[in-house]
Formats: sequence, structure tokens, C-alpha cells
Amino acid sequence: MELILLGPPGAGKGTQSKLLETRYGVAQISTGDMLRAEVKAGSPIGLEAKGIMAAGALVSDDLIIRMIAERISRPDCANGFILDGFPRTVPQAEALDKLLHDTKVDLDAVIELKVDEAMLVERISGRFTCAKCGAGYHDKFKQPHVAGVCDKCGSTEFSRRPDDKAETVHARMEAYNADTVPILPYYRAKNRLFTVDGMADMDEVERQIEAVLRKVGVPEPAPA
Ligand code: AP5
Repeated sequence: MELILLGPPGAGKGTQSKLLETRYGVAQISTGDMLRAEVKAGSPIGLEAKGIMAAGALVSDDLIIRMIAERISRPDCANGFILDGFPRTVPQAEALDKLLHDTKVDLDAVIELKVDEAMLVERISGRFTCAKCGAGYHDKFKQPHVAGVCDKCGSTEFSRRPDDKAETVHARMEAYNADTVPILPYYRAKNRLFTVDGMADMDEVERQIEAVLRKVGVPEPAPA
């Protein structure tokens, strides 16, 4: 399965792509997570990306395309992958087409998660993650079962992203509208674009995504 999840900041791309990764056994690739790991490591890529991400702007196409080309060539992508946060510009989408063509792989679908702007701000401002294993939570929509303790690893340390501040969220929305929305007609023209209601609860969004996957002929995963 080769799938792209598209949507504005806070639409639920990370939430849904992690669920699909577990269910379908394919690699989840988040360019945001990859960049945050580079920033944390203090690598040259991280140093280049840090200020740009903090301002809510987009990192250069050239850097991102090189990162993705290397990432999808790894063995864990042999069964397929879910791209979360890439492509984000038309040049990135064109570069991905070339990479897929060179490796004789076809995209199954591009799924847009559609969410109102007011809801996005609420989702982003309440988001936090386990500082140890990265499991994602939300103050209102997804609290740990035991307050202050990660469901997955038991850690009591949590963190919030520096770019989730209200003023940066606004810049991220602007970048989405200016640079990423033009990708939608690009994929619509290729008959690959499907839109799901990202305002629904997480289980319902997952069901809608799975319905799209059935429609495009992705084989059902084995029961858990
Ligand atoms: P990135 O990390 O990709 O951030 P983003 O696109 O802004 O998306 P988010 O991670 O904020 O949101 P999400 O859609 O994954 O939502 P989530 O599932 O967490 O990028 C960060 C930065 O890196 C960019 O600004 C840019 O600088 C750079 N970058 C990355 N890729 C790049 C590229 N390709 N080119 C150039 N620059 C790039 O959900 C949000 C919250 O809502 C969570 O708390 C969750 O629990 C909750 N939630 C999710 N779904 C639901 C639901 N259905 N109902 C209720 N709550 C929900």
C-alpha cells in the first residue's frame, strides 16, 4: 500500500497514519517527525530546519525531497508506506511522482482530511506527547487512561511542540493554504484524491479511510 495523508496542521494525519501503520504493517513516514529528530540530534539538517519550523514556515523542497528519497529506499518500505506531511508543495509532489516511477510503484490513494480551522486550533493547542515513546495525547480528546502516565510505556514525562503556540499555528495554516492546497487539484487530475470528514471522531475517520482503501483495492489486513 502506498498512501498519502494530506491535511492542514492538526487534521489528524499523524494519529491516523500511526493507526494504519499498525493495522496494515506498512511504514509510517512523517517528514515532521524526521525533521524533529534531526533538530534534537543537532545535525546539519536539524540546524537548518530548526528556525524555519519554529516560525511555522516550510523547509526547502530540495532538503525534504533528498530526505524522502533516502527514506523510502529503506527495507521497511518494501511492503509500502504511508506519507504523513509529504508532499507539501507541488514541486514535492512532482518529485515524488518521479521517485515512484523510477521504483515502479503506484500510489493507491491521496486522502485529504478536511477539518474546520477553529477545530484545528483546538486540536493543536491541546496536543501533547509522551517524552519517552512519542505516544500522542490530547487534553480534551485523548487523555491517558491514568492521568499523567503514558498508556504505552508508563512514563510520566510529557512534552508539547514549540510550534504549537497560537501565533505559529497561524503561520502554519497560511503555509498550508498557500503551498499545500494547490496539491489537491494536482492529485484530483490524476484521479487519486479522496476526501474524508476529519471533523468526525477518530474511530469514524479511521473507518472512512479504510472504506477508501477498500474502494481502491488495497487488500484487507489480516485480523489482529
Ligand atoms: P508536521 O509535523 O508535519 O506538522 P503538521 O502538518 O502541522 O501536522 P501536525 O503534526 O501538527 O498535525 P496532524 O495532522 O498530524 O494531527 P495529529 O494527528 O497530531 O510538520 C511540522 C513542521 O515541519 C512544518 O511546519 C514544516 O516547518 C516542517 N515540515 C514537515 N514536513 C515538511 C515538508 N514536506 N516540506 C517542508 N517542510 C516540512 O492530531 C492533532 C491533535 O488532535 C492530537 O492531539 C490528536 O490526539 C487530536 N485528534 C486527531 N484526530 C482527532 C479526531 N478525529 N477527533 C478529535 N481529536 C483528534
